[in-house]
Amino acid sequence: MCGIVGYTGNKQAQPIVLESLKKLEYRGYDSSGIATREEKLVICKKEGPIANMESVLPKSDSTLAIAHTRWATHGVPSDVNAHPHSNSENTIAVVHNGTIDNYLDIKENLESEGYKFKSNSDSEVLPALITKHYSGNLVEALNKSLEVIQGIFTIAVIHEDHPDEIVAVRNETPLVIGVGNSENYLASDIYAILKYTQQIIYPLDNQIIRLTSKSIEVFDDSLNKVDYEIEEVEKYTEVSEKGGFEHFMLKEIFEQPKALQDSLTELLIDSPLEKLGLNWKIGSISVVACGTSFHAGLVGKYVIEQLTAIPVSVSYSSEFRYAAPVQGVGGLLSSRPLVVLISQSGETADTLAAARVARQQGCHTIAICNVPGSRITREVDGVILTKSGQEIGVAATKTFLTQMQALYALGIHLGFTSGSIDYPQLKMWESEIRKLPSKLTQVLNNSESIKALAAQFVKSKSVFFVGRNINYPLALEGALKLKEISYIHAEGYPAGELKHGPLALLSEDTPVVAIAVQDHTYSKLISNIEEMSARKTPVITIAQKGDELAKKVSDFCFEIPEIDPVLSPFPIAVFMQLLSYYVAHELGTEIDKPRNLAKSVTVE
Ligand code: F6R
Repeated sequence: MCGIVGYTGNKQAQPIVLESLKKLEYRGYDSSGIATREEKLVICKKEGPIANMESVLPKSDSTLAIAHTRWATHGVPSDVNAHPHSNSENTIAVVHNGTIDNYLDIKENLESEGYKFKSNSDSEVLPALITKHYSGNLVEALNKSLEVIQGIFTIAVIHEDHPDEIVAVRNETPLVIGVGNSENYLASDIYAILKYTQQIIYPLDNQIIRLTSKSIEVFDDSLNKVDYEIEEVEKYTEVSEKGGFEHFMLKEIFEQPKALQDSLTELLIDSPLEKLGLNWKIGSISVVACGTSFHAGLVGKYVIEQLTAIPVSVSYSSEFRYAAPVQGVGGLLSSRPLVVLISQSGETADTLAAARVARQQGCHTIAICNVPGSRITREVDGVILTKSGQEIGVAATKTFLTQMQALYALGIHLGFTSGSIDYPQLKMWESEIRKLPSKLTQVLNNSESIKALAAQFVKSKSVFFVGRNINYPLALEGALKLKEISYIHAEGYPAGELKHGPLALLSEDTPVVAIAVQDHTYSKLISNIEEMSARKTPVITIAQKGDELAKKVSDFCFEIPEIDPVLSPFPIAVFMQLLSYYVAHELGTEIDKPRNLAKSVTVE
């Protein structure tokens, strides 16, 4: 989604913001732009990849710049709707992430005062409002404009009269300030500026920041100066290479054994629950997330309920926010509800909103997140940080596996502390989890057979994925992966549900991917496969090694290594990811940046 970067310092600003902007490309965008200050402000913006804008970018010696990648919400992707937006005199340039909910009213008022707008973007009201309130002080002008605006936003502004100054603010969307030596940075994503500095300030909502090359001032909404903390963040290993893989997604799929390994230390050390503040009796757990993270949450429900006596519900973040209060809130503090928010990016607006609701309701909150310092990690009571490394491909892969691993670890430790499992069982589970990287490697070593299988899917208009019990969420995830990167319609279903409707859609052209592991649902699943085969539907089954029956009833059977069915979602996820990848590859889609999608979804 939209990205913002800014620089004020003693070097040429344009190459710095351009490089930082390119680090945000992975988030998804449709146009980009840069504003610098020469004698006057110079704005260059273009629809399409950053390279389009770069090809027409005039040379600049400016030491001040703001830049933006846009992901359209109001107004189609176009040069004119791209940011930065300016006022009619071209003295102000503004970049904005988020949405201005009341922009139509503001626009109407300003138009009645004679202001002429150039674009269809909600963001263009910002330079207009700031101009209206400007009388020499940009901080004051922005503050007055904020009184009128409703919505969520990160805003950065520069003005022709202030050759060294960027003024910025955020409300519910990300903004970080990077502190340098005679130079300062801002960005909507820490990855954009970590190459330049690890000294980071995380402003609070509605604080206004004035950055110059030599100073940083933070103001509250009454414009009193307030203190701020500078945090030193971990040095970051830049991910810019595909390491010999054709796409980041494929590289990230192959990185999964390492991602699980690296996350283990965080998860399986002694007393992780105390670290999370969970030293009390948990009455119930609500898991809240979106998309792939939601699917990890569904797997987590099965695991936690199996290992503990704690009931778990799983909600989409966008629904949780408007649902009835979590049960048990206001009850005895000795048995409190716990809300687990899962977000690989830590910036998903729906999940952040849900976190706030949960806290307002008095729930204890923990986040499972892959980005240190991200917004969600700062808004919850405890954090499980997965260590997948940066994920560039828009489709979540390695972060999904480490999220599941985190939930298994949580389940095991809750099971042990609540007395549902004993110490030898705790150790047995930990040891099984430690074996997962090698199980994944076995699936990865078999990727050629999945590639060969992919050819069967490319002509399909629709594909069904079915599973039962703990692998029903994997059917959902298989369908999500396929549709987002290959654009083939796909649906995930509990295998037992097909006969209640969707069976009507099955035909020779509608393959089904069925997950048949040998748990207590196995025989029913085999019957479901037979029902589908009877409709001449090609059935591709994922089964455990040596399962002759599954081979017999299916058109093709992919064997996962021997594994406890409870842990089978891990190798199965790898199969699903590779299948989608190879189908999309055959179809020639933009795998790392699928159309209309963004890596970090910062609007609700
Ligand atoms: C799918 C995918 C999305 C995300 C969802 C939540 O491959 O990546 O469905 O899972 O947008 O994102 P996070 O986990 O960052 O909150």
